[in-house]
Amino acid sequence: MRLKQFKNYEELSDFAATDIADAIKNKPSLVLCLASGDTPKLTVDLLVKKIKEEKINYSKITFIGLDEWVGLPPTNTGSCHYFFQNKLIGPLQLKPSQYFLFDALAADLQNDCKKMDQFINDKNGIDIMLVGIGMNGHIGFNEPGTSFNSLSHVIELDEITRSVGQKYFNEQVELGKGITIGFKHLLNTKKVFLMANGSKKAELIKKTVEGPVTESFPASIMQKHNNGFVIVDEEACMVKSFH
Ligand code: F6R
Repeated sequence: MRLKQFKNYEELSDFAATDIADAIKNKPSLVLCLASGDTPKLTVDLLVKKIKEEKINYSKITFIGLDEWVGLPPTNTGSCHYFFQNKLIGPLQLKPSQYFLFDALAADLQNDCKKMDQFINDKNGIDIMLVGIGMNGHIGFNEPGTSFNSLSHVIELDEITRSVGQKYFNEQVELGKGITIGFKHLLNTKKVFLMANGSKKAELIKKTVEGPVTESFPASIMQKHNNGFVIVDEEACMVKSFH
């Protein structure tokens, strides 16, 4: 794992978007997995802009959504589905065969997890994953205590995730469970970016890169990935030794 620091959110996002755009140029059949949430917003916008402006051929890329709030319809503006549809799938007009998102309304969620695992295997794994970090150190909805060996699964959301998650919604929602890609997929992904910006993430990033590697602090899994990059802006970084 390596830590890279950028001056601000704009430079951080531009770095990630450029890296992904270049990766598509080098491998047109790239398999990309993204988190939703506040952190990757600008990266996704810049990526779509670059793809369009540079006329990058994205007809063979595959996109995978990292996670979803169980029970929310895709029309809910706070859902991950809505985020991906509006920021990536819609603007690029991806074909249904080019992406896979969890179905938060599936009657059989376990089966949906199996479908996701199968989809990832059929694609021969994920090339690039860009994730954020939750205020409890989670990645995706891999909450504290999740096995580093987990595949896609349904999970009872942590209290912190339930309360912080309200920020995505216009009105109070009942957030109970999440459905998420597990850590086995993260460890098998060829290149992983964990992105963070702002001072509220600084302590969490310090723990991610300097703390013990433990399932009780999920983001510490980044230390186990030999092509993992923790990418942060100045405000999110207090780890002087890595500069
Ligand atoms: C969302 C997701 C979450 C977020 C994390 C940080 O799809 O996977 O793990 O990445 O909660 O959220 P933000 O970026 O809103 O601070």
